[in-house]
Amino acid sequence: MKELKALNKYLIKYKGRLILGVFFIICANWFNLYPAKIFRTAIDTVIESLNTYNMVEGSFIQKDIYDELVMSLLLFGAALIGLALIKGVFTFFMRYTIIMVSRFIEFDLKNDIYNKYQQLDTSFYKMNKTGDIMNRIGDDVSKVRMYVGPSIMYLINLIVLFAFVITTMVNINPELSLYILLPLPVMSVTIYYVSRLINVKSERVQNQLSRIFSLSQETFAGIRVIKAYNKSEDTIQNFNEESKQYKDTAMDLVKTESLFHPIILFLPVLSTLITIYVGGLEVIKGTITYGNIGEFVIYINLLTWPVASLGWVTSLIQRAVTSQKRINEFLKTEPKIQSNNPIPIDIVGNVEFKNVSFTYPESGIRALKNISFSIKPGKTLAIVGKTGSGKSTIIQLLNRMYDCNTGEIFVDNQNIESINLNSLRNQTGCVPQEVFLFSDTISNNISFGTFGNEEKSNTEKVIWAAKQAAVHENIINFEDGYKTKVGERGITLSGGQKQRISVARAILKNPNILIFDDCLSAVDTETEEEILGNLKSIMVDKTTIIVSHRISTIQHADQIIMIDNGEIIEQGTHKELIDLNKNYNNLYKKQLFEQ
Ligand SMILES: Nc1ncnc2c1ncn2[C@@H]1O[C@H](COP(=O)(O)OP(=O)(O)O)[C@@H](O)[C@H]1O
Ligand SMILES: [Mg+2]
Repeated sequence: MKELKALNKYLIKYKGRLILGVFFIICANWFNLYPAKIFRTAIDTVIESLNTYNMVEGSFIQKDIYDELVMSLLLFGAALIGLALIKGVFTFFMRYTIIMVSRFIEFDLKNDIYNKYQQLDTSFYKMNKTGDIMNRIGDDVSKVRMYVGPSIMYLINLIVLFAFVITTMVNINPELSLYILLPLPVMSVTIYYVSRLINVKSERVQNQLSRIFSLSQETFAGIRVIKAYNKSEDTIQNFNEESKQYKDTAMDLVKTESLFHPIILFLPVLSTLITIYVGGLEVIKGTITYGNIGEFVIYINLLTWPVASLGWVTSLIQRAVTSQKRINEFLKTEPKIQSNNPIPIDIVGNVEFKNVSFTYPESGIRALKNISFSIKPGKTLAIVGKTGSGKSTIIQLLNRMYDCNTGEIFVDNQNIESINLNSLRNQTGCVPQEVFLFSDTISNNISFGTFGNEEKSNTEKVIWAAKQAAVHENIINFEDGYKTKVGERGITLSGGQKQRISVARAILKNPNILIFDDCLSAVDTETEEEILGNLKSIMVDKTTIIVSHRISTIQHADQIIMIDNGEIIEQGTHKELIDLNKNYNNLYKKQLFEQ
């Protein structure tokens, strides 16, 4: 239960509403008791009147007694309806206040979790499956909500009702009360076990359902490959197998659920029988009236659902504990990449790597060994090397997606770990190797990196950036131009178009450090040259890092480093490296030949 303590701060936040809710629960239950009392009086009145009626057989007052009885029965009926209405109003407000609190808490919790997600670094996302991450904010929060909402409401309701009903019953006849109440705990415990079984089984159904979801999602994402390789039959068979599995688990759940109702129905019936039998004996002894029996039967009915719900609520709370435990564990995770400096700075663009080595924590792959280089502001550095040689890793370290293990990275002669993280990222514009476009308009995708809405709406700048990235012509050929939606439900762009939009995004951001990580690989050489030509004027006062495997892309860089297997093997200008007549020169010749 201690896991749920984390929720207290939210409960305290909404304590006003909760107290109001408890007040409504008390009122609703208070009015719940009266119908039983009226019922008792009604029965006793009828029996008394009938006795008198029979005694005065043949007398003229018989009609008066009859009229009086009808009148009082009508009054009792009206009172019952009135009470039901009042109770209804309070029940409405009770649910309205408490369930509303649970929705507020759900909202707060989801926001807190989402904020945490935004703080956590890339290695968190590498280590946790997307499904789990989604579950925290979806499923787990829902289960916790069932605790702060229904569970708390039913528990308080049960306590209040018990206090009221049992004091009333014991006041009338303690012995009879004891007999009647005996089957109820049995019911509660049984329901607890049955609902636990139901939970386990419905979890299985849920898991199978998410398998089907992931399977379908992957199928839809890879539909082109599936069709091209003629694998539709296999996919259908896979799906059928998973569906059958789902059906079987669901049927299993149905069987258990069918047990639930007979149990709930059987035990109260037992209590009712005891009431009538033992109550009958008491009436013969004269300790209670006929009306009391009726009254007790109503009390049993009043208690049935709350007691039944006790078992259910217990299993809800157990589930909430497990979910909250997962949420707590994750809320306690501290991002490894911390901003150690609250003071924002302006970055000029001096970059230096000093003996940097790095091993990926998740895979243990040693991606960089002893890397050293430096770039002056306004200069261009190019990195070439085979795939997997560590080029993107250098970029990730410079962006502080990871922190290096040994060695140091300096920006403007400050260790990047001591620079305000937001400043660092705000003032670097990185075009990653894997382009990502949001399901939004092209124009919003390009202006993604700019700040404030004022700039966002500045279409002139967006068009300028698109022109620099040589993608403007493509965009205006789309029917909706810059308002064209891309991504899911939007149009599908070619690899090269996506890359150029991504380049435009970085250009528009106007950072002091520009990084292109192999981001023109899908663009033809001619367009690439056009873009590089445009960039020349943009890059004059910026530090630029260009990663590429094409010599044509990088030959004009002020400095080129060639890396292999995480190590710098050659370093210099294009001319120097050609003159060196080693790896770089070989690559150059090979590419010239291919061309
Ligand atoms: N996120 C990661 N987790 C674990 N290993 C990685 C990760 N990214 C890259 N690597 C490994 O690090 C090495 C260098 O990769 P990378 O820097 O992406 O190479 P390049 O960009 O030169 O193609 C490769 O062996 C790759 O498998
Ligand atoms: Mg790469």
